[in-house]
Amino acid sequence: MATPQLTGTDFTLTPRAMVSADPAGALNLKQRDFIGLKDFTRADIEGLLDLAAAMKAGQNNEKYLQDKFLGMLFTVASTRTRISFQVGAKQLGGHAEHYKAADLQLSNHETLKDTAAVMSRFLHGIIVRMYDMNAYGDGHGGIHVMANMADVPVINALDDKEHPCQVMADLLTLKEKYGADYKRKRVVMSWGYSPRQKSLGVLHSMMVSGAMLGMNVVFAHPKDYELDEEYISFAKDQIRKSGGTLDFTNDLMEASEGADVIYMKSWKSLKLPKDKEEIFKNEIRSDWCVSAEHFKRANPGAYYMDCMPFIRGEQVTTDVADGVNSIIYDQAENRLHAQKAIMAAIIGLKPGVNEK
Ligand code: CP
Repeated sequence: MATPQLTGTDFTLTPRAMVSADPAGALNLKQRDFIGLKDFTRADIEGLLDLAAAMKAGQNNEKYLQDKFLGMLFTVASTRTRISFQVGAKQLGGHAEHYKAADLQLSNHETLKDTAAVMSRFLHGIIVRMYDMNAYGDGHGGIHVMANMADVPVINALDDKEHPCQVMADLLTLKEKYGADYKRKRVVMSWGYSPRQKSLGVLHSMMVSGAMLGMNVVFAHPKDYELDEEYISFAKDQIRKSGGTLDFTNDLMEASEGADVIYMKSWKSLKLPKDKEEIFKNEIRSDWCVSAEHFKRANPGAYYMDCMPFIRGEQVTTDVADGVNSIIYDQAENRLHAQKAIMAAIIGLKPGVNEK
C-alpha cells in the first residue's frame, strides 16, 4: 500500500501513525537540497521535527543511509556541525567523511562547479559549510553553485545567509521544552559582541521558520545591524498567513520584557565597513551582554539559548550561560537528531532498498 502523504497537522494528531509508516518517505523530500528554510513548507518543517523527535526517542531506528557515503566540505571551523553529521550518518548506517578546502584541489584553483560535479559522481550527498564574511552572500551563492552541478542532495551546514540545520535543532529544543505551545512563545534573538565577524545564518533561518510556524520572534540589535531585507519581507508575508509576529528593537532590556526565551547570537553588520564596525562594536559591547538583569524582565522560567560557540562574560554572563535555565547543551545535542531526520528524508532509502 502506498504511504499516505501526511501533513504537519496529521503528525500532530496521529504521531504514532507517522512513526510506524515510512516517515522519511512520507515527508516527500527525497533528493531535495537543504540549503535554506525558505524553500520548505510549514508541513515539511513540522514533519522533520516529528521525525527527529521519534528518532531521539528511539521510536525510529531505521538505517536510512545503509551503505551510503556522504562528503562534508567545510571551508571554516566547526565542532557541533561536523561531529553531529558524522555521528548521525553512522547511526543511520552510512558514513560521512570531512574535507577541508585545503585537502582538495580547490586549494589549487579547481572550480567549485568541477568540484561539485566530481564529488557527486562518488557520493550520495554533499554537506557544505562555506562563507567569507567580507563578501556577504558569496557563501550562500557558492552552495547554490554546487547544488546546481551536483546530481545528489546538498545540505547547508552554515553559510553567510542561513544555518537551517542549527535552527531545526533549536525548534526541536523549543518543542521539547514548551510542547506545541512553543509557537506562541516570545523568543528574543539578541545581538552580542564578538571579536569575529560572524554569520547572520541563525537569525535568518529562525526568522523565516518562526514566521511560518506562527511564533512571536523579536530581534534586538544595535543600529546598523539590521538583517537582510530579503528574509524580512519573506517572513512578513508568512506571518500574515500564520498569525505569528515579527518585531525589531534597538533595546534589549525592553525586548526582554515578557520573554520566554532569550537567544544570544553575534553577527556582523551588513552596513558598516569592517574598520568602522570594529570601533563601533567595541564602544557598545557592554550594553549587549545578556545577564540576570534581562532575565528579571523575562517570564519566570524563561530559557537561555545559544547556538555556541560563545565567550562567557563577553556576550552572556557566566551565571546565565551556566544557570539552570540555560538549554545550550540540549540545543547542541539536538543537532544530531535534527540532522538525522534531514539526511533520512532527503538522502535516505527505505531500509533494504538500494537505489544507487
Ligand atoms: N553552532 C554551530 O554551528 O557550531 P559549530 O560551528 O561548532 O559547528
